[in-house]
Amino acid sequence: MATKLPTTDIRISAGTIRRRKGGTPIVCLTAYTYPVARLLDEHVDLLLVGDSVAMVLHGHKTTLGASLEMMIAHGQAVMRGSARACVVVDLPAGTYEDSAAQAVASARRVVEETGCQAVKLEGGVDMSKQIAAIVAAGIPVMGHIGLQPQSVEKDGGYKIKGRTEEAVAALVRDALAVESAGAFSVVIEGTVETVAADITRRIAIPTIGIGASGDCDGQILVIDDMVGLTVDRVPKFVKEYADLRSVISNAAETYAAEVRSRTFPGPGHVFSATNSRDDA
Ligand code: KIV
Repeated sequence: MATKLPTTDIRISAGTIRRRKGGTPIVCLTAYTYPVARLLDEHVDLLLVGDSVAMVLHGHKTTLGASLEMMIAHGQAVMRGSARACVVVDLPAGTYEDSAAQAVASARRVVEETGCQAVKLEGGVDMSKQIAAIVAAGIPVMGHIGLQPQSVEKDGGYKIKGRTEEAVAALVRDALAVESAGAFSVVIEGTVETVAADITRRIAIPTIGIGASGDCDGQILVIDDMVGLTVDRVPKFVKEYADLRSVISNAAETYAAEVRSRTFPGPGHVFSATNSRDDA
């Protein structure tokens, strides 16, 4: 049931997402490929080409396996497969942290080579100069605070944020820094529910929760997690809306049996010498 791409350009801009603060919840999913973008485009407001692609599609242990070239290739595929959703591409680790100039150069490359609407980067107070510089260069930025997957090696694992008074204060400082640097929205990941809800009330830009709070202005999940394609451990905050592991595994099992028994290909899947109307 592939959906048709709309013919007119009706893409949702970062500015439109920004103006939806406090309104109908903003629906976001990750997407990495052309066919999945085609399927998701009509249902979501925002597609994130997350650096989780390094783990989900390329089998790396962490998101540190993502490169700018990888993000650009997947960003191009998602742009080709969508016409409506606001497309945001992650800046991978090592492409923005050193300086504002490095961040602007990476963001420019991503936007120029993919045509996406915005970039996302991880960090709060520590990355506010980078966010401000990218925004000053005319590129909308989505922030990402709380659990930051690019820092899991430094943090010693995927640790939930906001469980001590100091951690709560640091999260609030990060949220305010991302907002004043000019980001149009901010992802809050892996954060105590009440803290994420409180930050949502305190800042004027939309918060997008993942393992955060139902009070956030929007929600995001990794597409492979929510359709049940993830083969490794699925985090607690994921709800699986489908079981594609079983669908694919059962299809492969049936196909293998039919090839071995010479049931496939059947008469409907081969070509005769005389009937030219049955061309592939
Ligand atoms: O890379 C990613 O998929 C993300 C989302 C989990 C927010 O950053």
